[in-house]
Amino acid sequence: MEVNTLTVTDNRTDQTYTLPIVDGTVRSMDMRQIRTSDDDFGLMMYDPAFMNTASCRSNITYIDGERGILEYRGYPIEELAERCTFLEVAYLLLFGELPNESQLKSWVYEITHHTMLHETTRQFMEGFRYDAHPMAMLVSTVAALSAVYPEAKHVHDAENRLQQIKRLIGKMPTVAAMSYRHSVGFPYVYPDNDLSYPENFMNMLWKMVEPKYAANPVLARALDILFILHADHEQNCSTSVMRSVGSALADPYLSVAAAAAALSGPLHGGANEEVLRMLDEIGTKENIPAYIQRVKNGHGKLMGFGHRVYKNFDPRAKIIKRTAEEVFRVTGHNPKLEIALELERIALQDEYFIKRKLYPNVDFYSGIIYQAVGFKPELFTVLFAIPRTVGWLAQWQEMLTDSEQKISRPRQVYTGQRSRRFVPMEER
Ligand code: SDX
Repeated sequence: MEVNTLTVTDNRTDQTYTLPIVDGTVRSMDMRQIRTSDDDFGLMMYDPAFMNTASCRSNITYIDGERGILEYRGYPIEELAERCTFLEVAYLLLFGELPNESQLKSWVYEITHHTMLHETTRQFMEGFRYDAHPMAMLVSTVAALSAVYPEAKHVHDAENRLQQIKRLIGKMPTVAAMSYRHSVGFPYVYPDNDLSYPENFMNMLWKMVEPKYAANPVLARALDILFILHADHEQNCSTSVMRSVGSALADPYLSVAAAAAALSGPLHGGANEEVLRMLDEIGTKENIPAYIQRVKNGHGKLMGFGHRVYKNFDPRAKIIKRTAEEVFRVTGHNPKLEIALELERIALQDEYFIKRKLYPNVDFYSGIIYQAVGFKPELFTVLFAIPRTVGWLAQWQEMLTDSEQKISRPRQVYTGQRSRRFVPMEER
């Protein structure tokens, strides 16, 4: 008997089946042979929210939830955050290898020269109300870019794909900055190609009347590190949306817009904004025990805590915590850090959180840094979407070039009524 197999007996028919085990999985389609009769559809796997279902094979990002390991293309996140720039990591995620000097130079040049938006896109953004949420503006505007680049629908053309990938990576900070400037009623600041990726983003956000924006190098580096940490995270909710929408051969602008819409949810990328609201609501350290008790009584969640995969710690949270100290040396202390640290200390000793393996995730400390750097909470998820665009695009491209993949279309267990007699209006 082949060792890497699973033998199951269907007690309804006393039939035994031997299924191959490959990479720790059994193919769901292999279950379809398990039937009670020839006209039986066969067994399906039922897995609401895909708690235990692998949707693809991927060699982009590796996570070990028990050991708190995160690697991009096999490189530990700690090394990349310490020794790379975000655009260097973007190249790694998209092409599979770290760029050499000339590859990085031309990559940075390409991205830098795709930061401008078509003027009609600027006009499109001016249609939003002054208080429109920046994520709503970002999702809509990225989708609108599909109308600016209709050739993007040729998703099987590798050269065309790469052109759209460069455009999206280059333009996300511009769209993000414009959504912020719109919300505060300031004139838009156009990209400055002399500046690095994070510095140019800060320039488009915060340049006022000075002739040339000069970013604080410590804050620019902190932003670059945060971008690296948020770049990809295997098959999270928004990436699964990117793969699903992309599997229908929708163009990358519409697919990224759909993924960003998923990211905006408070259980996903929207959590960093909610963490700040939670810390504001708690207000002081003295209020923490009462707040935690409310959560334990089922009233809301501890935002920034818990993770579907990480069950000991989120390696990104550790790096963000270290980065926070460097930022505060420049910006001055953010008093919310004290509340966050005390909240973490108390929660990590509490049986409720220990039993459920709830630890600070990437969103718990990122918002505190963003606020210290000068971002409003409404912009926090936009700051997540900018770097995650690289991960979405890398995963999208891997899906398109994977011969095993086709249009994503799960099945269901139907629990409704069947073959009902139609009821004419007079009888209802
Ligand atoms: C991100 O998937 C990714 O990789 C995502 C991400 C990425 O990089 O793409 O890492 C980014 O989205 C990070 C997560 C940000 N979200 C939050 O911080 C929101 C708060 N966290 C929770 O909503 C929750 O922990 C999730 C959504 C993150 C994970 O949810 P799961 O895996 O579905 O866990 P669950 O909801 O089934 O919870 C299991 C138990 C439940 O209690 P019981 O019903 O067993 O009594 O833990 C409880 C939950 O109520 N629980 C929490 C909690 N998270 C889970 N209780 C209090 N506070 C929390 N934060």
